[in-house]
Amino acid sequence: MSLERAKWDKKFSQKEAVLGLPDKFLVRNLHLLKTGKLADVACGDGRNAIFLAKNGFQVTGFDFSDFGLMRLGNFEKAESVKIKTVSCDLETYGFAGFQNYFDTVLVSHFLLRGNFFERISGILKPGGTLVYTTFNLKQHENFGFNKDFCLQGNELLTVFKGFELLKFEQEEGENFLDSCVFGKG
Ligand SMILES: C[S@@+](CC[C@H](N)C(=O)[O-])C[C@H]1O[C@@H](n2cnc3c(N)ncnc32)[C@H](O)[C@@H]1O
Repeated sequence: MSLERAKWDKKFSQKEAVLGLPDKFLVRNLHLLKTGKLADVACGDGRNAIFLAKNGFQVTGFDFSDFGLMRLGNFEKAESVKIKTVSCDLETYGFAGFQNYFDTVLVSHFLLRGNFFERISGILKPGGTLVYTTFNLKQHENFGFNKDFCLQGNELLTVFKGFELLKFEQEEGENFLDSCVFGKG
């Protein structure tokens, strides 16, 4: 097992059994999202997945932490919703069977490079929406958060320049985040 996965398993196994609040950018911009099948990539213990399922999306969550996914399963029962989960390492996972499959893809507080952006674009149907919200370099500068997991410059706008930009926000304060909603033409 990788060190990173063990770190997340430990984190989730030590957390209080309380469902977190969904991401604020996601909540504010829910009306922009294409409804239907939604991929929550690096879903963790499901604070966003549960919120989205309650709002009528058919959610599939992807994550490598079985402890996170176990917690998600408990919240799913408690909240009376249905969520599919896939336990996978997103460094290498090929999303077999999910090409052009999802109406919306969400990535919240997670970043990988390599061909990750291409792989998540590939699972989104034409006409679908992509929500991406994660830390920018100021999170590193202000809080020492690992630079490798911070967006550089206008990275999201550059990477998804072929998509239509429906919303872009930069948050400063408690956290430093870049958040976008894109439409896939
Ligand atoms: C900061 S949490 C964000 C969870 C969720 N998206 C949210 O906003 O609450 C990051 C998540 O990424 C997952 N993760 C980290 N590296 C991963 C990898 N290589 N493959 C799959 N999941 C990974 C962790 O298990 C964790 O659940």
